[in-house]
Amino acid sequence: MVSSPRVVAASFPSSMSASPATLALSPFRHPGEAFAAVQLGLHVACRAARDPEELSLHHEIRRRVFVEEQGLFGGSDRDDHDDDPATVRILGLCGDVAGGAVRCYPLSDTATVGGTVDLVDPGAGLWKGDRLAVLPLFRHNGLGAPLVRFAVRTAAEAGGGKMIAHIQPSNVGFFEHLGWYALGGLVTYVGRPHQAMAIDLALVLQRL
Ligand SMILES: CC(C)(COP(=O)(O)OP(=O)(O)OC[C@H]1O[C@@H](n2cnc3c(N)ncnc32)[C@H](O)[C@@H]1OP(=O)(O)O)[C@@H](O)C(=O)NCCC(=O)NCCS
Repeated sequence: MVSSPRVVAASFPSSMSASPATLALSPFRHPGEAFAAVQLGLHVACRAARDPEELSLHHEIRRRVFVEEQGLFGGSDRDDHDDDPATVRILGLCGDVAGGAVRCYPLSDTATVGGTVDLVDPGAGLWKGDRLAVLPLFRHNGLGAPLVRFAVRTAAEAGGGKMIAHIQPSNVGFFEHLGWYALGGLVTYVGRPHQAMAIDLALVLQRL
């Protein structure tokens, strides 16, 4: 079951946030604090990265998971979306320690959607979420689900109508629990099979 009872805060991009300005601790520089935060079950929160150091933490978490662990990308998983100011790069924290990342962005160039473009409504308001990564220490600890919900909520509150993502087959159940549904069959994305999935953001807004 996907639940996140320890989520007590889900702030929004820094300009909209009322939460304290404490910057995230690096789990790589502070492994003891990271371990303790997980073991003690400190609260989980998600927010957009607030400064260059937090942005580099966001990218380092992605690199460790998608380059080092999964070998999905060689060297770097960064792409043009990371240079687009419309992209929201998000950190998931356990206590003050960053343990996860995800990004989301409005899709203006439909070519980037790949095989799913003909399966979604062609109207405006299409967003994509990707690069969901929780470091192994933090997994099964209620950080991944809040990261997905935060990305979805960010897109919904920015006026998005639908959000899509390419999901690794082993994670389809995780996303279904969070209200996502499959679009068609498996497609090849970044060289591996993925399931295109979507969530209707208007429905999400009804729950806020
Ligand atoms: C997928 C991932 C983000 C999940 O993060 P997480 O922090 O472990 O997720 P949560 O703790 O919020 O999960 C809550 C619940 O969702 C369910 N869940 C988690 N992963 C699942 C999966 N792959 N399939 C089905 N259900 C899943 C479980 O019920 C879990 O509870 P549990 O503690 O009993 O396992 C994480 O495993 C990860 O980063 N994996 C490597 C990178 C990756 O695969 N990214 C996604 C690309 S599509």
